[in-house]
Amino acid sequence: MAAPSDVPAGRPAARTTKIAIVGAGAVGSTLAFAALTRGSARTIALHDVNSAKVEAEVLDLRHGLMFTSQAHVIGSDDVAVCADADVVVVTAGAKQKPGQTRLDLAEGTIGLMRQILPGLVEVAPDATYLMVTNPVDVVTYAALQISGLPRERLFGSGTVLDSSRLRAVLAERCGVAVANVHAYIAGEHGDSEIALWSSASIGGVPLLDWEPLAGYPPIDAEVRAQVHREVVDSAYRIIAGKGATNYAVGLAATRIIEAVLKDEGRVMPVSSLLDGYHGIGDVCLSVPSLVDRRGVTSSVPVPMSDDELAGLRASADSVRGVLRRFRF
Ligand code: 2OP
Repeated sequence: MAAPSDVPAGRPAARTTKIAIVGAGAVGSTLAFAALTRGSARTIALHDVNSAKVEAEVLDLRHGLMFTSQAHVIGSDDVAVCADADVVVVTAGAKQKPGQTRLDLAEGTIGLMRQILPGLVEVAPDATYLMVTNPVDVVTYAALQISGLPRERLFGSGTVLDSSRLRAVLAERCGVAVANVHAYIAGEHGDSEIALWSSASIGGVPLLDWEPLAGYPPIDAEVRAQVHREVVDSAYRIIAGKGATNYAVGLAATRIIEAVLKDEGRVMPVSSLLDGYHGIGDVCLSVPSLVDRRGVTSSVPVPMSDDELAGLRASADSVRGVLRRFRF
């Protein structure tokens, strides 16, 4: 496989953007495909210890370059392929099997982070790091400790995916476009996550005041509970059917990366180290946060109902409980 130094130099390079994706499994390679088709960066680098897999994925992606924006796709089992990336995305980790929760994956994944992060930080010291590997909130906290990177520059994909799932389900139930639904899932990316109903809106109307369109059901408390359950169970259903989730998570991660590379200042529920958010601190959890070129720069103080606050605190306790087991 082409070593990073084999990449053709071509014309003298202008400063272009580079995404390095660690892990060429279902999530990593789908993310590479999403980033390539969206034209998210000029260079997309894939790194995986399985050299045959990384070579195959890179070739398959390169053969589509005719149909995308101009890009370089490179890959290697050598971490040097990630050198000087603007964003490093970590997707490598144990695969969640049917019946396992994300938190069941913690032990193996934390060990893996200890192995891979020092080498990554050495070759890409100035990158923003996006953790996608599960259990993402635990992994993000552990990765911050292991890497010593500043909290703005290392965060997790968190509940960006779950919020997208929530919006898709609500849009269907209300008969509106997904883009017209504003609603967040917050807390753990996992079983204890909560829906922020009190701040949700559709087309500018607070969700709790939404009058159903003709032929559509009201979004009452019972329906909201069903929608929440559907979102929480999504990954289990997909994993039971096809062994992994990859498309929506690949798109969600790509969108977060773009918010960084394009310095968007986009509000996204990424998982970051909280410090007194509604009184919650010393845990990585998703709350609506500002994402720009510097990484995750602040949390947005979304008003919450008492139930939502209690749910967020319980979610923080659940993630903290796992972290304590690993002495973090
Ligand atoms: C997902 O929610 C499994 O975390 C992955 O799709």
